[in-house]
Amino acid sequence: MRLGILTGGGDAPGLNAVIRAVVYRASAGGHEVIGFFRGWKGAIENTARPLAIEDVRDIQKEGGTILLSSRTNPAKVERGFERIAETLITESIDCLIAVGGEDTLGVASRLSQAGHRVLGVPKTIDNDLDATDYTFGFDTAINIVTQALDDLATTARSHERVMVVEIMGRHAGWMTLHGGIAGGAHVILIPEVPFDTDSVCAILRKRWDEGRHWAIVAVAEGAQDEELQKHVMHAEHTDAFGHVQLGTGIGVGEVLAREIEDRTGLETRHVVLGHLQRGGPPSAFDRVLGTRLGVKAVEMAEQGLSGMMVSLQGGEVVPVDLARAVGRLKTVPVERYDVARLFFG
Ligand code: F6P
Repeated sequence: MRLGILTGGGDAPGLNAVIRAVVYRASAGGHEVIGFFRGWKGAIENTARPLAIEDVRDIQKEGGTILLSSRTNPAKVERGFERIAETLITESIDCLIAVGGEDTLGVASRLSQAGHRVLGVPKTIDNDLDATDYTFGFDTAINIVTQALDDLATTARSHERVMVVEIMGRHAGWMTLHGGIAGGAHVILIPEVPFDTDSVCAILRKRWDEGRHWAIVAVAEGAQDEELQKHVMHAEHTDAFGHVQLGTGIGVGEVLAREIEDRTGLETRHVVLGHLQRGGPPSAFDRVLGTRLGVKAVEMAEQGLSGMMVSLQGGEVVPVDLARAVGRLKTVPVERYDVARLFFG
């Protein structure tokens, strides 16, 4: 078989572990692997390059993706889907492995519905893909968030300040929830549960009154207090999949920090963790998860499967229907948020 592979969307630590695993497992099975550079852009423009063991040796240790990434949406490119189909024929690709989040896998699902042999591997630091327990990249990212909160605590304490920390997550608060719990944030705010700034201020005032004169507020970039929203100014443009670019302009972290200071008189600073959350080497968990998913994807290709995604379910890596996996986002259930609330203040 000739297997194609591409990585699309925002990068996530663990992508290189998947690529390495696909190449090693394919080689063990006597198959060839063709890499397409820059996600769907590479499939449209045909940037094919054969990948050999030597190209991927030891790359599981490295963050990012050796195949590069883009947020190209074939639906927004003239003859985008037809050109991908032409590339697959020109390169004699028997099965294409698309590694990405809901956008990249949504395209993969559409291609498979059009009759192409495509498999998906779920990736995103946001952990918001349904039909898999965890996406790789998430574990590394929440360790980065946790470390940042630990570090910010010492300076917050020394200066008796509130630190508002803005964490990635447009629609899902998994990173803020897990990073916030692990890093001991005193208030956690997520997109799934609209917040009220007066209640946040009340929690902080009480904390001060009880003699603890510092605090960390972990806020997801997509969290909203309707009243503050008019002050939040994101970049005007959206990406090719229609998402507003958060983390630029004046984000919720900055607006919230200003409001907390105005309403409570407590000295407050804000920090946007931004792309630091996606950088650096993957955690051991993400290296191993990426490896298992990559190996399984090749096994599924050997079994002739298509329109499926590799998924982690209760510790096992199993195939699930791709269309179902991209059908809806996995957001934080309110009961999970209630666990975090126990530790507020
Ligand atoms: O989807 C992953 C993610 O890191 C989001 O958490 C974040 O909102 C977005 O990508 C940032 O995208 P970009 O790298 O295009 O600015």
